Amino acid sequence: MDRLSREAGEMFIAGRTRRLTRCPAGRDSGGRMSTPSLADAIAETLFSREQIESKIAELAAAIADDFADKNPLVVGILSGCYPFIADLTRALDMKLEVDFMACSSYGGSTKSSGVVRILKDLNTPIEGRHVLIVEDIIDTGLTLKYLVENLQTRHPASISICTLLDKHEARSENVEVRYRGFVCPNKFVVGYGLDYDGQFRNLPYIGVLKPEVYQS
Ligand code: IMP
Repeated sequence: MDRLSREAGEMFIAGRTRRLTRCPAGRDSGGRMSTPSLADAIAETLFSREQIESKIAELAAAIADDFADKNPLVVGILSGCYPFIADLTRALDMKLEVDFMACSSYGGSTKSSGVVRILKDLNTPIEGRHVLIVEDIIDTGLTLKYLVENLQTRHPASISICTLLDKHEARSENVEVRYRGFVCPNKFVVGYGLDYDGQFRNLPYIGVLKPEVYQS
């Protein structure tokens, strides 16, 4: 659906353009209870789809300048990185390989436990390779500090970090970020891969969660 149609409240369904009716929260046009929208849990939008898209184009241009002839191994940190690494790598018209790691995360909490565990390791040896770590958000920096130290022991040619969001007010560890998308306020955010208790990763933009969602 293009932007004009979306703004005009139209949607292309089954070969025909239909007008969308705005409904009061929780009710459909016939007054019946409707499924709640993900957006109902969002207090404010921090970064829109359009802002994310243009930031990714900027990041990709900087990465291409530095790595075009290096065939980097782009390492996504699961699970939050999945939309970002997909969009970022598709914006890079150059040779690269993609692999993933998974670490212990916050679970159902909004505060870091401070304990990092590798749940899934790389499939690819990195000795002599240029490694570009792709992360959704850096908060305290504990996860990346641990990962970088761990990967250094495997003797890569270089390790660089690209993060979409940087909550640098919350940083307790010294982590060198080479490519930074947005500086993020020190609030719990969801969407575009970021979750709360496994939910909201599929929200197509980044927003601040209403506190009542995690206080209830
Ligand atoms: P750090 O180790 O404290 O830097 O935390 C990094 C990880 O915490 C990220 O990869 C996210 O999974 C998670 N995280 C930190 N802040 C947020 C947030 O605001 N929303 C969702 N996940 C977050």
